[in-house]
Amino acid sequence: MTPDKIKVYSPATVANMVCGFDVLGFALDGPYDELTMSMNKSGAVNIRNLDNFNLPLKAEDNVIGGALLALMAALDDNTGFEIDSRKTIKPGSGIGSSAASAAGAVMGANCLLGNRFSKAELVDFAMYGEKVASGARHADNIAPAIYGGITLIRSSNPLDIVSIPFPPLYVTVLHPLIEVKTSNAREILKKEILLKDAAMQWGNVAGLVAGLMKGDFELIRRSLVDVIVEPVRKILIPGFDAVKSACLEAGALGGGISGSGPSIFMLSETLETANEVAKAIHSCYGKIGIEYDVHVSNINPDGVKIILDPKD
Ligand code: HSE
Repeated sequence: MTPDKIKVYSPATVANMVCGFDVLGFALDGPYDELTMSMNKSGAVNIRNLDNFNLPLKAEDNVIGGALLALMAALDDNTGFEIDSRKTIKPGSGIGSSAASAAGAVMGANCLLGNRFSKAELVDFAMYGEKVASGARHADNIAPAIYGGITLIRSSNPLDIVSIPFPPLYVTVLHPLIEVKTSNAREILKKEILLKDAAMQWGNVAGLVAGLMKGDFELIRRSLVDVIVEPVRKILIPGFDAVKSACLEAGALGGGISGSGPSIFMLSETLETANEVAKAIHSCYGKIGIEYDVHVSNINPDGVKIILDPKD
């Protein structure tokens, strides 16, 4: 029997993983967005915001709406959805706020529909939500939110998603409380790159994937290098070089801009080191004069979680 009402917890994600622009990403344990969902038979997407972010309510202009309208077009009947959305992932934070909304909405809808669609189909629908947010149908936040763990988008068209095995890794995320719009952070990127830079970058992407699969932390460390995107985007993040150096000195394996920023993430081999990295961030970023949050998390192997028949 399919449930009438569900609660969906959709996690923050880190896209790019330094060298893998638009192709690598992983899910975090938190923060989560929360969606309460049920179906209607009027073919409408009715969204209520239970937070203070004032996101648009019109389905076509809303990330949740964009994703659900794509899913509903595939159903081609009069199914619609009622959604109460409580976001805790701040839009423009660089930890997959729009992806959490889009991935949570399509996973929730699929559960209410008795799991008609595959995960790959759900990623495809959710990418229409990302398009509402940034103008680009990238899947590197959506795929890890839906599949959990670390995912590779080998191809976006046709969609080919690969889950990458990984050793225990701990993540420290610095979220400076400034907003960077993904559309702006994409606009400033160079449209053409040198072949020698491309070769370095794909060497690092392949090295990172191999390092994750082999559990080879030294290879992971050597591969967490981005010669293409970070040098351009880091100007959007005050104190980027100083805080990155402080984290590496504290023992992080490596890290960089989370998605399109302004958040910065660092990977560590142990929880103890990840906490040391958090301390190093406080000592360094405390002096920059921008408010910020720091989270320490595991890589979340499960992605979106759904509670059937919630009591509230
Ligand atoms: N891969 C995307 C970008 C992620 O870097 O623009 C945005 O969150």
